Amino acid sequence: MLKGKKILIGVTASIAAYKVAYLVRILKKENAEVKVVMTPSAFDFITPLTLSVLSGNPVLSTFSSKEDGTWNNHVELGLWADVMVIAPASANTMSKMANGACDNLMMAVYLSAKCPVLFAPAMDLDMYKHPATLENIAKLKSFGNKMIQPGYGELASGLFGEGRMAEPEEIVEHIELQLSEKKLKGKKALVSAGPTYEAIDPVRFIGNHSSGKMGVAIAEELARNGADVTLVMGPSNITSKVPGITTVHVLSSEDMFKVCDEAFVNADIAVMAAAVADYTPTEKAAQKIKKKEIDLSLQLTKTKDILMHLGTIKKASQVLVGFALETENGLENATEKVKRKNADFIVLNSLTAENKGFGVDFNKVQFIDNNSAVEAFESKSKKEVATDIVSKIAKIIKSK
Ligand code: CTP
Repeated sequence: MLKGKKILIGVTASIAAYKVAYLVRILKKENAEVKVVMTPSAFDFITPLTLSVLSGNPVLSTFSSKEDGTWNNHVELGLWADVMVIAPASANTMSKMANGACDNLMMAVYLSAKCPVLFAPAMDLDMYKHPATLENIAKLKSFGNKMIQPGYGELASGLFGEGRMAEPEEIVEHIELQLSEKKLKGKKALVSAGPTYEAIDPVRFIGNHSSGKMGVAIAEELARNGADVTLVMGPSNITSKVPGITTVHVLSSEDMFKVCDEAFVNADIAVMAAAVADYTPTEKAAQKIKKKEIDLSLQLTKTKDILMHLGTIKKASQVLVGFALETENGLENATEKVKRKNADFIVLNSLTAENKGFGVDFNKVQFIDNNSAVEAFESKSKKEVATDIVSKIAKIIKSK
């Protein structure tokens, strides 16, 4: 989603400047155009060479070049950017930003910028808590600048507290959120993700290899587009820091059914990406089952199909999306499934050698809609697949 976006990074004097190298690297990997301006004191913390090589653009810090007198046009830079991110934002720079000081190129660019400005504070905990800093932050927010909340942890001083600059991945999330189109503003979305665990006894369960990555990627993309998302998550270690997502943790298919059934009533969009167990032990032993000399048989009962249930209660205005994982006759089965479960479309994963599915970051999918139309995609990252899914949802919402 950052392809071709123009991102201007202002680097100020803080030890957290070392993280900016990685931030620039991620942005370039996402095919964004990146330019960097530094305050003169930031040179003590990271070299302009590092940032110019990583960004592919010269790093600017002075109003003109000493060698040939070329003017570094701060107005042009400010107008060039789709978003300006000041990271790390030192206490000193925040104070200047709050008061309109203009004693270096970065400040002149900031004052000239017409685009949204994000700032990621980085300083020691007492500096961060000081009333002057808090007043400056409040002032910056009142100007419309958006703060990327610093984290809690070990600081360069060795003390523990608030003031650590947000990690580069989190800063990228904020940039994406800022630049996304918000096509789904005001919409409520429900997403199921991850596996379910079906208890055999208090210590054993039947589960599956689903990581929950695809569902979380979809929840994040819906949130970036402005939707208010409820993520119903089976047992998984994957978490999300994207604002706009409320996560409800569940264990079994029955728990997931109850939460989804309740949330669907108010939802405009539901994407069932969870790998829900199809069967659950008929009896759940109250105590741990003891090993015996003979074999053990488990009787399994079919679970409720959540997607199918939502399909039966779905209103015409709601968009319902399901997943299918097939090892053979994929298209045929998915075409039948989209109709039987009354979904708007099914995302078909085929578990083949090139499309390993579980736990990996890449996925090759096809969309099959309720008119049997098929859209096939190349192998893409789960994040890109999520973008394709959410674009299709936005189109369907518009046409309803
Ligand atoms: N699903 C569900 N509740 C279940 C089972 C599945 O909501 N109890 C949803 C999944 O989240 C997914 C879709 O249904 O969106 C998968 O459909 P399913 O019929 O389970 O198909 P596959 O897993 O693809 O395979 P099979 O048809 O062989 O069961």
